Formats: sequence, structure tokens, C-alpha cells
Amino acid sequence: MIEKLNAIRRQAEKEMNKVASYGELNDLRVKYLGKKGELTAVLRGMGSLSPEERPQVGQAANQVRSDIEKILEVRGNELKEQQLQESLKKETIDITLPGQNIFIGRKHPITLVIDQIKEIFLGMGYTISEGPEIELDYYNFEALNIPPEHPARDMQDSFYISDEVLLRTHTSPVQVRTMEKTVPQVPVKIICPGKVYRRDDDATHSPMFHQVEGLVIDKGISMGDLKGTLLTFARQMFGEDRQIRLRPSYFPFTEPSAEVDISCMMCGGEGCRVCSHTGWLEILGSGMVHPRVLEMSGYNPEEVSGFAFGMGVERVALLKYGIDDMRLLFENDLRFLTQF
Ligand code: PHE
Repeated sequence: MIEKLNAIRRQAEKEMNKVASYGELNDLRVKYLGKKGELTAVLRGMGSLSPEERPQVGQAANQVRSDIEKILEVRGNELKEQQLQESLKKETIDITLPGQNIFIGRKHPITLVIDQIKEIFLGMGYTISEGPEIELDYYNFEALNIPPEHPARDMQDSFYISDEVLLRTHTSPVQVRTMEKTVPQVPVKIICPGKVYRRDDDATHSPMFHQVEGLVIDKGISMGDLKGTLLTFARQMFGEDRQIRLRPSYFPFTEPSAEVDISCMMCGGEGCRVCSHTGWLEILGSGMVHPRVLEMSGYNPEEVSGFAFGMGVERVALLKYGIDDMRLLFENDLRFLTQF
């Protein structure tokens, strides 16, 4: 019987050294030491032993049990350590591998241009003002001295929502809304960026586009102030050697009115395809605020005067970035947008 016990121990040791996981080792614990295990089976046979033999076999069996327990413990620790090492290995990060690219969004060229226009005018002491895109006829036309029969009010140009309400066709209504709030204080120095809507849609027009309005009111404001302001703007926006020129024009809400051209940045004024060989590019409409407009908003045209201008942001973006089709600005093709 002692021989049998020793054989069990040898067999147990051999098998336990072979297992590869903690789970398998536990199976062997049951196989050898469990209630239905091999050692228990041998001990059950002890009844047939003589009283002299019994203590010796009992002792040997206890020895084998504790030997097997020791093997289980040592082997268990080895396996646990091995499993820990393996899981650590799996978690290891190779910090020399190239990183994964994260797609980062960017600003649309229209937003870039508006940001830059704001920056330039903030630098000249202007504040930023905003108004609604859904506007009353009164602010969009009436208070800007646009009489009912004026072509700008034609249903062809404006998106009307009702008799009194429309999508604003320009940012000029913000002039009036601002003056109503500031009157009778001066100076007023604001720019107003925003979306405007007109009923045309072709290669050079979109039914929605952006404008930035400017308004200055103070005592003794003259056309010279307008010209100086726009020259400063043109040079910061398009380069230090830009020139500007004012061409007489007509807007119902300014008198006198002028359209402003800048010397072409492509050819420096020599004449090229971009400027249709004139050397000049039109960038905005402007003028001295009409006395009637000042009056309707509550200012006294005998005491104060002002200038206003309105520029098309898309037009500025096309010129600044040398883009030849305005539709690119609205199609949102990433191959185009990621270039800015
Ligand atoms: N509102 C005019 C337009 O949309 C531009 C403008 C603004 C002209 C301010 C003069 C003064 O064409």
C-alpha cells in the first residue's frame, strides 16, 4: 500500500508539472485529493490492514497528501505568475508605432474671411452688432428710404413671407435697428456680419450669401473718414500696396453714394483676366448716411453725420483666395474645404 501511495505522489507530480493553466491544476487537485480522489480511495482500503500496519500507512498517506498540497501550491504560484506575465505582455503598448490620425475639422473660408474682417474693424475700435435674418419690411426698406416703387422691393429680388415680413435682402436694416437703440448717443461705430437672401441663383449669385455692414455716426464725419477707413481695411485684407477708388453710385439710403474698387491684387493694377483688364475690382457699396435715414431713426442730421458700407463676403473670399467659382463655397466638397 505504501508503494501505491508513492506511485500516486509521483504520478501527481508528473501531471501537475505538465498542466498549462490554473484551471487544469484545480482539476488535478480534485482528481488526487478530492472526496472521490485517488488518495481517498487508498485510505478507504485501510480497513483491511492489521493494527500494526495501519499507523504506518496512515502516516505515509498524510505525508503524500502534504507533499501533493505542496506541489499544488508551488505549481499554482508558478502558473499565476505566468498568467500575469502573459496578460501584461498583451497590454503593452508600442509607443514607437505611428499614431492614428484624428480628423480635425476646420473653419470654412467664409468664416475665415468674416473672422478676419471682424479682427480688422475691432482693431479700429468698432463693435459687432447683429440683427434678425427674418426682417420687417420697415427695417429692410422703409426706414432705409427705399420707396414702395423702388426696384429693390420687387418680388423678383426678395423672399417675402407675408406683406410685412421677408428674408432680409441686405444687412443694412441693422443700421436702423442699431440707431434706434443708440440715439441720441455718438459715436456709433459698428460692423454687422450676417446672412442675406435674394431671389437669384447662377454661377456668380447664390440665393443666400453673406454681407458685412459698417456704420459710423459722429459729429463731423466726412467722406474722407469713409475713404481712410476703407483704405485701411483694403490694405490689411488684401496687402499693403492696394489702392482704392470711389466711383459715384446710387443707394436710396446714402447720399452721396460710392462703389469702392481696389487695385487688382493679381496684376497689381496692370490689367489681367481676373479684373477684366481694368486693373480694378469692385468690393463694396458705401456712402454718407442719408439725412432722411438719420432722421427716421431719431438722429438730428444738423448735428451728426455718418458713413455706411456693405460688402459681400463671398466676393472678398473669391478675391482673397483666388477662387473662380462661387458655387465651390456652398457645395461643401471636402477636397475643396481642406485646402484652407
Ligand atoms: N446694402 C447695400 C447692398 O446690399 C450695400 C450698401 C450698404 C451700400 C451700406 C451703401 C451703404 O447692395
